[in-house]
Amino acid sequence: MAWFPVLLVAAPLLLAGTFVAQTVFGLARNYASARTIGVPIRFIPISPLNPFWTLVDRAVLSFIRRLPGPLGRNSFTRYNWRGWEVADRYRSHQEMGDIWVLVTPFKNWIYLNDPDALNSLFRRGNDFPRPVFVTGVCCWLENVLELTQDFPFAAILDVFGPNISTAEGQAWKTQRKMAMHSFNEQNNEIVWSESLTLATDMQKYWTSMPSIDTAASDLRTLSLHVLSRAGFGKSFKFESQEDRKTQRPSANSAANYKDSLQTIMENCVLILGLGTSFIAQPWLPKKLRDVHAAYVSFRAYMTSLYEEEKAAYAVGETGEPNLMRSMVRASQADAKDGGGLTEAEIYGNMFVFNFAGHDTTAHSFTFAMYFLAANPEVQEWLHEEIHRVFGDVPVEDWDYRANFPRLKRCLSVLYETIRLYVPVPTIKWTADKAQPLVVGGRTLVLPASSMIAPSYGSVQTDPRFWGPNSLNWDPSRFIVKSAEDGDEELRVPVRGSFHGWSDGARDCPGRKFSHVEFVATMAVLFRSNWRVKPAPKYPDESPEAARSRVLDLIENDSGSVLLLQMLHPERAPLVWEKR
Ligand code: HEM
Ligand SMILES: *[C@@H]1O[C@H](CO)[C@@H](O)[C@H](O)[C@H]1NC(C)=O
Ligand SMILES: *[C@@H]1O[C@H](CO)[C@@H](O)[C@H](O)[C@H]1NC(C)=O
Repeated sequence: MAWFPVLLVAAPLLLAGTFVAQTVFGLARNYASARTIGVPIRFIPISPLNPFWTLVDRAVLSFIRRLPGPLGRNSFTRYNWRGWEVADRYRSHQEMGDIWVLVTPFKNWIYLNDPDALNSLFRRGNDFPRPVFVTGVCCWLENVLELTQDFPFAAILDVFGPNISTAEGQAWKTQRKMAMHSFNEQNNEIVWSESLTLATDMQKYWTSMPSIDTAASDLRTLSLHVLSRAGFGKSFKFESQEDRKTQRPSANSAANYKDSLQTIMENCVLILGLGTSFIAQPWLPKKLRDVHAAYVSFRAYMTSLYEEEKAAYAVGETGEPNLMRSMVRASQADAKDGGGLTEAEIYGNMFVFNFAGHDTTAHSFTFAMYFLAANPEVQEWLHEEIHRVFGDVPVEDWDYRANFPRLKRCLSVLYETIRLYVPVPTIKWTADKAQPLVVGGRTLVLPASSMIAPSYGSVQTDPRFWGPNSLNWDPSRFIVKSAEDGDEELRVPVRGSFHGWSDGARDCPGRKFSHVEFVATMAVLFRSNWRVKPAPKYPDESPEAARSRVLDLIENDSGSVLLLQMLHPERAPLVWEKR
């Protein structure tokens, strides 16, 4: 047994040695490749795709930043953490130009800030595919653990998962076409009316409370319920956190859908790490078993909806359109000539819709709500428009087709919020071939296997495209008066300088869906005589102080969990009061 202590010392040393050697080797290899591009280069020692690092990056770096001089301020502390892009805004590109490379031990990351180059990046989807191996937080896990593609969690593997999303090439084209059938104006009408109803109830609840610290979760409830109706034809009433506490857990699978989806999303990383069969083990802690139960229940719910829909289709029943229904119909019709979606693909896509359409919307809504609370004059500005459009018409009679297009200011609030806080960063790569790309008039050759990160945080705030106040939140920048009739129009940003819903063949199919949901919600909230403001933190806090406190919370306490979000919105409760 004499070797045992030796092993105890040697094993960690060996591991550490291997890690260091791999790092040095990777950096040298990638540096050689980066140099061929001929643009500025920075180094970081740890791959941003390393999940263990992403768990501790902020904590470790905040410690290292305290070191004196260059020890505390260097590329490592500046670039080696998740979310630096948003904090950095356009500064790095201002220092280094519209393209530069971050060399890491695993891949090179090419940062791009040139609108024309970004346009061709999105347009040339075949040259610059989405790296299917990158799955946001989960990418590295997937590579390392070679996770199985077990339904529906293959979905999460891709941030926007299968199948519309994981699939590349022909398979993807078919699926995308099918899925796009479902995002149509009929569906948007449902999004509209469901959002109006839910927002009305949400406002009733908000205005009945002395102050609310649950804005984020209430907005999340709203977005989930809209999705449930427009996606599956299942309508749920708005319910507050209070309501939920007092309710008995329902045995009904439709009501459980919401809760199970929520549980799945909150525990996505865990499910991925452990696998769905593992978390079924009866000896595991209750939390894990609950996660598994959620998975089973969500899956059962999908199956029952699908079977219901197929049966209805078989007997020729028609009803209100929803995403599931359109997809089943399209696939059954196409199945006759062999090109339909398989059952698994439909489940995969429904999960993607849920996954892609829920938190994105909820987080953007939360940012917007806090920006509005800090900017009472913008609330007035919205009120003016909403009043102009609806006069005294009651909410029940608000017509989607006639009114939605006129609520430009309401929509500008979403654009402005997403300009500053893009919830979903798209990443592309060069795959197995080097690709030429024109950047600032120069044709550069981007080596194979390079990651390409459109610099959203930068191009969407660059003063060249957005003016000197580009870092301020000011929705009116998106509004112009039309030359013809003086009506207000949504300003089209400088081409290539805004990519909030991505672009090209793989852009967000839910873009309009999210517009409609947001505009309807704003119209309800700010039509009334209620206004929202931050609750004072101490009795005589001035409105100015409260306002900067909220702006500080937005700017300095946001970060990437799965998506970019406010980390602690509950720290600034909001108050609704009559004007
Ligand atoms: C404010 C709200 C939203 C924003 C900012 C947003 C943004 C995006 C972005 C940037 C992408 C591309 C991701 C990538 O390239 O990796 C995307 C993809 C996607 N989004 Fe959205 N989205 C929103 C709402 C929605 C909604 C409401 C739905 C559905 C109901 C939805 C469904 C999807 C789907 C299915 C994809 C994958 C498309 C594909 O791979 O071809 N999104 N979204
Ligand atoms: C997703 O798509 C891939 C490739 O098209 C397919 O192999 C897989 O079975 C699909 N998974 C689901 C859950 O639909
Ligand atoms: C964010 O934090 C920085 C550094 O502490 C501060 O200078 C800045 O004013 C804060 N942002 C806001 C909006 O308060």
